[in-house]
Amino acid sequence: MAPNGSINSRSTRVAIIGAGPAGLLLGQLLTVAGIDNIVIEQRSPEYVLGRIRAGILECVTVEALKRAGVDGRLREEGLVHHGIELSFGGERHRIDFHALIGSDVTVYGQTEVTRDLMAARQASGVPTVYEAEDVSLHDFDSNRPRVCYRKDGVEHEVVCDYIAGCDGFHGVSRASVPEPSKRIFERVYPFGWLGILSETPPVADELIYASHERGFALCSMRSKTRSRYYVQVPSTEKPEDWSDARFWDELRHRLDPAAAEALVTGPSIEKSIAPLRSFVCEPMRYGRLFLAGDAAHIVPPTGAKGLNLAASDVLYLADGLIAHYQHDDSHELDMYSERCLRRVWKAERFSWWMTSLLHRFPDADAFAHRIQQAELDYLVGSEAACRSLAENYVGLPR
Ligand code: APR
Ligand code: PHB
Repeated sequence: MAPNGSINSRSTRVAIIGAGPAGLLLGQLLTVAGIDNIVIEQRSPEYVLGRIRAGILECVTVEALKRAGVDGRLREEGLVHHGIELSFGGERHRIDFHALIGSDVTVYGQTEVTRDLMAARQASGVPTVYEAEDVSLHDFDSNRPRVCYRKDGVEHEVVCDYIAGCDGFHGVSRASVPEPSKRIFERVYPFGWLGILSETPPVADELIYASHERGFALCSMRSKTRSRYYVQVPSTEKPEDWSDARFWDELRHRLDPAAAEALVTGPSIEKSIAPLRSFVCEPMRYGRLFLAGDAAHIVPPTGAKGLNLAASDVLYLADGLIAHYQHDDSHELDMYSERCLRRVWKAERFSWWMTSLLHRFPDADAFAHRIQQAELDYLVGSEAACRSLAENYVGLPR
């Protein structure tokens, strides 16, 4: 330990801020490629693993986890889904990804992805700092960036070549970029999703996205015995005001009769409300600081794109860093922001569209409702429209 008042200093190639899926996946891809890195996280591992997030993986994400050497449990426990169902007007309509585009998605919780990445990182013995306080970024406009933090009362400094800001929407990385250098694009929706997790079998084999006059609902799952359900609620709602019974009643109301009948209810093991937001920060690179995942962009969860976009950013960044260190070629790093943003904006568009299609907007008039109904009717009646949904949902090519 450094003597009182002094700073404990170390150096590495890449300092990664945040141990969410973006930071941990990047760390693993770099470690596999032999590139020194450190992960600096402000919370404890237990806190990070306590967050319940989405659970749909695109093939690109599954491939990234394979490259990182963490696809073992995912292959065993992940549920491969060949389609989704849309429920409206009392009926369900299946969108068959497999038949339409020959592709699928894997249901495997983000919490489990994070757990697997944490275990692999621990096994490889690379440095990870949890419960780092007052993390701050310095000199990323120079060729000697630094990250400072305090741990157990001792000040630390990491001198590095590059900083990867993987610290989520509320992190310090994006906030460290001077205002005039960044441009923000944002839409906040006037509702959130109230979600519960329950130890009950899922109501159907595939996910059901329901549009109802009382609002949107989603039936998802984590396994064959554990379900994840959501209902759209006004942004002003509090989870405490929602007993389990009230939640199940509301969900049942919003489903088609067959699903409502089949729904198995039980005590919730988690209940929370997530706001819905679309957000992009441009560019995604500032000198030697790269933003990745939720630090750079947020999508409403309707298209299940948040984690997948984070994985896609991280793949571009890992490849750029590997080309730089192994072949002295910085072209991919120079293209990082542009490449990510092209994909990010397409996922933003899709997530915004799915959200607009399926939710009730408080300010929508009768005309807007009819347009929404017509769009749903068109969608399920048109193979071209179904294919468009399918190719976006399973993930556009990189
Ligand atoms: N210093 C260090 N770590 C920080 C700081 C900070 N100042 N601020 C936040 N963090 C940590 C958070 O505690 C969190 O563990 O950064 C991590 C960011 O993780 P996520 O929020 O999960 O973001 P990301 O890794 O980009 O994951 C992508 O996919 O399904 C979506 O939104 C969902 O989290 C998900 C995202
Ligand atoms: C989830 O399982 O939590 C989930 C699934 C699909 C979504 C959003 C969330 O679109």
